[in-house]
Amino acid sequence: MPSDRSIGVFDSGLGGLTVTRAIAAELPQESITYLGDTARCPYGERPQEEVRDFCAQIARWFSQPEHDVKLLVVACNTATAAGVPLMQRMLPIPVLGVIAPGARAVVQATHTRRVGVLATEGTVESGQYPRAIHALDAGVQVWQAPSPRSVRIVEEAVASPHAFGRDWMEDRAFLDTEAARAVAEEDLAPLMGRGIDALILGCTHFPLLKPVYQAVMGPGVTIVSSAEETAREARRYLERGGTLAPAGHEARYRFATTGDELAAFAVAGEYIFGRQLASVAHVDVS
Ligand code: SIN
Repeated sequence: MPSDRSIGVFDSGLGGLTVTRAIAAELPQESITYLGDTARCPYGERPQEEVRDFCAQIARWFSQPEHDVKLLVVACNTATAAGVPLMQRMLPIPVLGVIAPGARAVVQATHTRRVGVLATEGTVESGQYPRAIHALDAGVQVWQAPSPRSVRIVEEAVASPHAFGRDWMEDRAFLDTEAARAVAEEDLAPLMGRGIDALILGCTHFPLLKPVYQAVMGPGVTIVSSAEETAREARRYLERGGTLAPAGHEARYRFATTGDELAAFAVAGEYIFGRQLASVAHVDVS
């Protein structure tokens, strides 16, 4: 039955729950199977070949019949840059990354046609954001900046579950610390003074730091993430494939992590996903 099949979502850790949240809002009738490769997070500073190998392992995991996914969303930008074509070749279902939707979102947001990309080192080095943006509008000027420390700030903050409230969407100032601002000021420096009016957060962790980036870039810069556009893209894929679950179908959410700290994953995951994670399983994908 197509309606019982789920959307698979894969991320290097917890950050992909920002995308999962947008998918659950756009497609409330769809079941979701989420896999966070928390044991090996972050991916952003790893060589592309290593990330590609991880992507192959994850593709094999999702291809197991018990997961029965009808669409796989690669919510991690670094994994999208390194591994989506490989995963598309390996799997008989559509595999959707976050870079093309993110590029679309930033091209739609800019008026000056001067945009910034803040991402991990791996994503910046891959050059995939400029390529995807130029495929839509070759006249847009793109400046990129890596911010590996931003990934660590988010990972460390969400690893201390009692440090924050219940929901980052309602609690937006929690990561707006002096240390986070100092990192943002330094890492965003290459993008300043360029006339940029739109900045894409090219890492799934970065939406949690949006107030910090907004303060540094100023009110004239629209900050966009790929989450909502990726969710809309997921809807288009399912509509085209005729695999959309019927309205009213009761969605089931399953969460798996390669890490050992299931309780911490559940608490931090609830904070990012915006609702309780009913169950979190430990899995081995290697
Ligand atoms: C990472 O794993 O380094 C961050 C996730 C991403 O690239 O979106």
